[in-house]
Order: sequence, then structure tokens, then C-alpha cells
Amino acid sequence: MSSTISGAAVVGGVCGQPIKHSMSPVIHNAWIAAASLDAAYVPFAPTAERFETFVDGLRGGAVRGVNVTIPFKERALALADTASDLAKMAGAANLLLFAADGSIHADNTDGPGLLGAIEAQAPGFEVAAAPILILGAGGAARGAVAALLLAGAPQIRIVNRTLARAQELADAFGERVIAADEAALPDLLADAGLVINATSLGLGGGEGPAVDLSLTPKTAVVMDMVYRPLRTEFLRRAQAAGRRTVDGLEMLLRQAIPTFEAIYGAPPSPAVDVRGMALKLLGEPC
Ligand code: ATR
Repeated sequence: MSSTISGAAVVGGVCGQPIKHSMSPVIHNAWIAAASLDAAYVPFAPTAERFETFVDGLRGGAVRGVNVTIPFKERALALADTASDLAKMAGAANLLLFAADGSIHADNTDGPGLLGAIEAQAPGFEVAAAPILILGAGGAARGAVAALLLAGAPQIRIVNRTLARAQELADAFGERVIAADEAALPDLLADAGLVINATSLGLGGGEGPAVDLSLTPKTAVVMDMVYRPLRTEFLRRAQAAGRRTVDGLEMLLRQAIPTFEAIYGAPPSPAVDVRGMALKLLGEPC
């Protein structure tokens, strides 16, 4: 394992504000070390006012690529010269790649992260088999809708505290996405194949969305995008009802795989226990 960074090293990173709690540097640098790459992955915390200046300064490839996190994902997409379909549909980019000619390409690996997490923790689940219920209508929900639509979801139902925001999201995606009132939840749950919490409820240990998960079919999968704590109250209720669950940490770890490939040009080694490392950082038992 080499920890040498030469003058020819490939540099990648992550930018957000704040950034100091990001787990991405630990994950990517562990993969870099395992492959003995001449490379580094560093955190950046540009000020909110200077985000555009920061990104503009990277044009030309001084840095090969950066992950983008809260609160810059929408602004990152707007700055790019080209963007993947997924980033365009999600209306946000979590990855910017800098070409030598000065252009910027935007991508969104949160979508593959979501699908990868489901595949890992609920193997055999078929996105196309049944309607999907998403709780929340913010940026996280929008990204999930984009990924699930591209993966063949037959119908996505959005329920949100602010119905107008759910309606706005549904209108942006067309007929396979509908907004529904909380009062309709019993019916919406009855035939849902997948229920996702894309609200911030449950973050920091509070209660998750007030949804009776036992109303879902026994085969339904329940996912939480919140990963602090790892076993959210929402997921604990799903488990108590006997449903398979998918946690937000797995989504975070899975989005890092295509990101690493895009920046460093090779897939990360599966031998590195990044989940164990992340659990340690979160203070969770491994
Ligand atoms: P993100 O980019 O993480 O999705 P966001 O755009 O701020 O963040 O969206 C947060 C989501 O959590 C929204 O769906 C929000 O509901 P509103 O659209 O009604 O604001 C939801 N949310 C946050 N706090 C909530 C609460 N106390 N009860 C119900 N929903 C809540």
C-alpha cells in the first residue's frame, strides 16, 4: 500500500458547506491506498457566495473531478457545459468532471447509489413490479424519482407535508408521477412495492414520517435516505412489521463507486470494508 503523492498525482475531492463531517475523503482515500494509486481526494468548503468562482477555477483539469454536496448540487448542474440525463432529470449534480479543454461535465451518482443500495440490501427487488411511494418532495426526493423512473418504475406517488410542492414535483416529471394527499396513505401503501423516506424526519434520532408501514404488502421494501442514526425510527418500525429495509448509509457508499471510477479511471477494490469504516465514523456498532 503506497501513501506517496507525487507531482503527477490525480486529484479529486468533495465540496460542500459545511464539509468537515463528510465521510467521502475517508472512503475514497482508502480505495486510493488499496490500489496504490498516485492520487488524492480532498475536502473543499467554498463559501456560499463564491461557489461559482471556486468551480470556475477548476476548469482545465487542475482537479480531475469533485463530488458536490449540500447546498451546492443545483448550482453545480447550472455551471456545467454538459450533463447526464440523470443529472438533468434530477435537477442536481453530485459530481463535476473537469476536462482538459476547460469544459465541465455534470453527473448524478446518487441515483445509481439508491438503486445499488436496494440491490445490495433487498436482493431480487424489482423496481418495475409495483408502485413506489416517496415521502418528501425536496431535492433528495427529486433525485430518487429521476433514478426510479429511468429504472422503469410503473408509478411513483409523492406524499409531502406541503402538497403543493409534491404537485410541482409530479408535474415536472409527467404522468408516471402523481402527488397525493396524506389522507390517501392507507390506499397508497396497500399495493406499494417500495416506500422511501426522502424527508429529513428522523435525522438525529427523532421520529420518522408518521406512516403505518404494516399496511404495505408483506413483500414491500422500506428505505430511509436518512443515515444518522443508521437504524432510524422509521426503519425500526418497518423491521418490526417484518419488512425488508434498506439504509441511507448503503446509498451513500454505493454512490461513491461510480464517482471513484469517473475520477480515477478504475473501479474501487471491493476488499476495502468501507461500510465498516463509515460505521466507525458514525459511532455505530459494526
Ligand atoms: P433535501 O434536499 O434533503 O430533500 P429539502 O429540499 O429541504 O431537503 O426537503 C426536505 C423535505 O423534508 C421536504 O419534503 C420537507 O417537507 P416540506 O416540503 O413540506 O417542507 C420535508 N420535511 C422537513 N421537515 C419536516 C417535518 N417536520 N414534517 C414533515 N416533513 C418535513
